[in-house]
Amino acid sequence: MSLGSSSQASALVVITRARIIAVVSLIVTWSIASLLPYYTPTIKDHVTTRLSEARQKIPKVGIEWRPLGLISDPRHRFNTSKVALLIEPRPLRHLVPQILHMISVVPPDWRFVFVGTNLSTASVGRSYATKHQQVIGKLDLLVLPTPWEIDSKENVHRLLTDMRFYDEFLPGVEWLLKYEYDSILCANSATSLNEWLHWDWAGSPR
Ligand SMILES: *[C@@H]1O[C@H](CO)[C@@H](O)[C@H](O)[C@H]1NC(C)=O
Ligand SMILES: *[C@@H]1O[C@H](CO)[C@@H](O)[C@H](O)[C@H]1NC(C)=O
Repeated sequence: MSLGSSSQASALVVITRARIIAVVSLIVTWSIASLLPYYTPTIKDHVTTRLSEARQKIPKVGIEWRPLGLISDPRHRFNTSKVALLIEPRPLRHLVPQILHMISVVPPDWRFVFVGTNLSTASVGRSYATKHQQVIGKLDLLVLPTPWEIDSKENVHRLLTDMRFYDEFLPGVEWLLKYEYDSILCANSATSLNEWLHWDWAGSPR
């Protein structure tokens, strides 16, 4: 009995101490927060003067930047004969992370082409990460002009079996990795995609 009551008492003490600490820390936080508005202008002034001091120390440099012939098209930084292709009419939420995953797993010399509708290309192109990939020449987002259509499986199959599609939209491409919205490549695989290039066709049945 006595043991029980003493442990109850110590629990009470602990609770009270914890409460006191909480109240004290709240008071301290409030007082600091209430002081902050007075400090802000001083901090701003200080930062501005430091910035202008730093600016005065920057030497004046003129840069004449001329793109070098071939390198002006950033696509030529990659191997333009290898393209990973995704055709998707729906603006699915996971397309951006999926494309970024594929970019990170497929060997770095491959380029990426996304063929979509107005809606799906807009949803993919809105992300900062995909914009960056477009700027560096890694990724192209493509809306096919009429009469090409990708709104049904049959139309996509018609597209993929029409030589004009390859001639017009994928000129010079020799190797194509065609992946789907539900595809993923194992990032930890010991085999590289480049080891499959001697095959005319490799794939899995659906
Ligand atoms: C592109 O890759 C293929 C196969 O790996 C290679 O034979 C070819 O030389 C590469 N092209 C360029 C421009 O690097
Ligand atoms: C897609 O966008 C183009 C150009 O902005 C426009 O001409 C075309 O009508 C649009 N297509 C659809 C299906 O909204």
